[in-house]
Amino acid sequence: MAAGAGEVRRAVYPGSFDPPTLGHLDIISRAARLFDELIVAVAVNAQKKPLFTLEERVAMLQECCQHLPNVRVVPLQGLLARFAQSVGACVIVRGLRAVSDFEYEFQMASMNRQLAPEVDTCFLMTHQQYAFLSSSIVKEVARLGGDVSQLVPPNVHARLTQRFAAESAGEATPATNL
Ligand code: COA
Repeated sequence: MAAGAGEVRRAVYPGSFDPPTLGHLDIISRAARLFDELIVAVAVNAQKKPLFTLEERVAMLQECCQHLPNVRVVPLQGLLARFAQSVGACVIVRGLRAVSDFEYEFQMASMNRQLAPEVDTCFLMTHQQYAFLSSSIVKEVARLGGDVSQLVPPNVHARLTQRFAAESAGEATPATNL
């Protein structure tokens, strides 16, 4: 890792967080203990059509991380490797849930190393309680009226409930901008 003695050890935890789950919060709180500063970077994932706008996702995570003084939540547009360099991060944090995550993570870490050799990727094993979790599965269950209150923070649960209530009343449209 690139930080030298006495330097601030800054890490970036990227994701699309649509929405944040307790699995993400588990990684954030553990990474916040490992590094001096943790920047949670809320990304635009071009492969995904988000339910929540970038601003909503940043706001939800800021609410969730209020009790963690060394955690900052920011939007990320563009290359993760370049962003990590621009904020002086020495590490990209990723959570590993199952063996099936490995291939994608290996590819991403290798590409990020190619782009920013001084930035390492650090993997934390997701708590087994959340190993099955994804933002998509939470959205699907919530959309169909299932109880996800044990899987997401209370503020996220409130927003999901509100969004799907509005959707079923025909008011809401999914986030179209980002
Ligand atoms: N607990 C619960 N769920 C978790 C989890 C955890 N600890 N870790 C991951 N997940 C879920 C996520 O919610 C996500 O669910 P979804 O697919 O239903 O939305 C899924 O696992 C995949 O997560 P992840 O691999 O982190 O995908 P992502 O879309 O959240 O993030 C980026 C991918 C943003 C990190 C990646 O696209 C990126 O770096 N983008 C920036 C552009 C760039 O640099 N691209 C080149 C990369 S080499």
